[in-house]
Amino acid sequence: MILIIDFGSQYNQLIARRVRENKVYCQIEPPDIAVATIQELQPEGIILSGGPSSIYEKNSPKMDKAVFDLGIPILGICYGMQYMVDALGGKVQHARKREYGFAELKIKNPVGVLKEADRQTQCWMSHGDSIVSLPAGFALTASTANTRIAAIHNSRRKLYGLQFHPEVEHTPQGKKMLRSFLFDICGCKRSWTMRSFARDAITRIEEQVQHKRVILGLSGGVDSSVTAVLIHKAIGKNLTCIFVDNGLLRKNEADKLKVTLKQHLKINIRFVNAAARFLSALKGVTDPEKKRKIIGLIFMEVFESEAAKIRDAEFLAQGTLYPDVIESISAFGGPTSVIKSHHNVGGLPARMKLKLVEPLRYLFKDEVRRLGKTLGMPDELIWRQPFPGPGLAIRVIGEITRQRLQVLRNVDELLLEEIREAGYYKKLWQSFAVLLPIKSVGVMGDARTYENIVAIRAVTSKDAMTADWARLPHSFLARVSNRIINEVKGVNRVVYDISSKPPSTIEWE
Ligand code: XMP
Repeated sequence: MILIIDFGSQYNQLIARRVRENKVYCQIEPPDIAVATIQELQPEGIILSGGPSSIYEKNSPKMDKAVFDLGIPILGICYGMQYMVDALGGKVQHARKREYGFAELKIKNPVGVLKEADRQTQCWMSHGDSIVSLPAGFALTASTANTRIAAIHNSRRKLYGLQFHPEVEHTPQGKKMLRSFLFDICGCKRSWTMRSFARDAITRIEEQVQHKRVILGLSGGVDSSVTAVLIHKAIGKNLTCIFVDNGLLRKNEADKLKVTLKQHLKINIRFVNAAARFLSALKGVTDPEKKRKIIGLIFMEVFESEAAKIRDAEFLAQGTLYPDVIESISAFGGPTSVIKSHHNVGGLPARMKLKLVEPLRYLFKDEVRRLGKTLGMPDELIWRQPFPGPGLAIRVIGEITRQRLQVLRNVDELLLEEIREAGYYKKLWQSFAVLLPIKSVGVMGDARTYENIVAIRAVTSKDAMTADWARLPHSFLARVSNRIINEVKGVNRVVYDISSKPPSTIEWE
C-alpha cells in the first residue's frame, strides 16, 4: 500500500485515483499521523501531497521529520517537495512571480521517477514558493524556464521531489512518473482488485461484528445496496435492513425495489410504509429547508422505532464513501469524523448508541459500482442514478399534495423511459422532472387550458460537486415534451433547465 499525506491539495483525491488505477491500494492520512502508525501500516511508499500553504506560514501543515528516516521511499509533490527540502536542511523561498499553468519540463537526468518519461515534456505548475538550495545528498533532475529546481532526487535514500503535479491530465507524462515511483522505486505489486478488496472487507466485517446484529437503512441506492450485499456475505442473517417508504419515491419505485432487492439480494429486509405519516407532516409546508428537516426527523423516528424491534442490534451500517471521509479529515481543521447525512440517518448512531460499520469508507463511487459487479449484483441496482433522501418532496416546488406528486410521478416515469430508451441513463449523472408552483395558459384542441409547468433537469457530473446541464439533442427534447403534454393530464408546458452547478444546484430545492 501507498500512504498519501494530505497537505491540503485540491488534487489529493486525484493522486489516490492514479495510484488505485494501477491496482495498488492507497490511503490518505493527515500530516499529524504518528510515525508509529505509519510503521504499523507498513506502506511500500509515501506520497507527500501538494497544498495551498507556504512552509513559512505559521500554521502550515507539518509532519514528524522522522518519516524521512524510516527507509520508506518518499515522493514529495509541490508543497510536499518543499516540505521535504525544508525539513532536510535545504532552502525554500517566496518566488517573485507565482507560477501557474503549463510549463515545458527539461529532464536533465532521467533517474528515479523520471526514468521512463520523455526528456522534454509538458508539466502543470501551481506554486508561489520555489526551492533555491538543496539538502545534502540531493541532486537536480529537471528544470523549467521559470523553475530551475523542478525535480530532485536522493536515490540513495529513495527520496524524490516534483515541483509540478504529475497526477493531473495537464502533465501528460505524469502517469509514467507515478508508475516508476510505484513499481521501480517502491516495488509495489498490482494486487489490489475489487475481488481482493471484497475478500478483505468481508474478513474485517466478520472480525468487527462477530456474532452481533447489524442494522442498515436501505435506500435502494448504489451505496447502501452494495453495503448490504457485502455485509450479508460476511454475517448472513445477522444483518437486517430497513427500507422506509416515505411516500416520496418515484412511480412504482417501492414495489420495484422490493422485487429487485429481495430477489437478487436475498437479504432480510423490513419494509415500512410510512407514507401517510410523512405526507401529513408535510401538509402546507413550502419552505425547502423545512421540508428537509421534517423528512429527516420523521425518518429518524420511523427508523428508530423499527430498529427497536430488532433485539440486540449493536451496529449500524452505512454506505459512507471515501470523498466524504477525505473531506472530513482534510489537513485544514475539519472534524475528525463525519457521519454522512446522505441517507438521513446522520444523528442515529449517537442517539441509538450503535457502533458504525462503514465498509465502503475507502472507496470512490466508480469503485463501489465495480465492487457491486464483483459481488454479482444486477446492473439495474449498480447503475442507478443518485436520488435524494427527501425524494420528490424537493422536486414538487411549493406545497406537496398527493395529487401534485401524482402529476410529477407520471411525467418523471415518461421522461426516464425515454432517457433509458435513448441510451442516456448511464451517461447522465441524474435526470429527472420538477413540478413548478405556477400555472400557464395553453391551447388544446380549440379550448384554452390553464395547467402546470414541468421542468426537465439532466446533468452530467463526476461527483455532484460540480455539474453541467446535459446537451440533449433538440429532437430528443421535442419528443419528450410532446409526449408529456399529450399524455400527462395536468401539464401544458415543458421547459428545459440550462443551468450549471455552480452557481445553480442540481436539485431545485
Ligand atoms: P445539489 O442539489 O446540492 O445536489 O446540487 C447534489 C447531489 O445531492 C443530492 N441531494 C441530496 N441527497 N439528501 C440526499 O440524500 C438530500 O437532502 C439531498 N439534497 C440533494 C442531489 O440529488 C445531487 O445528487
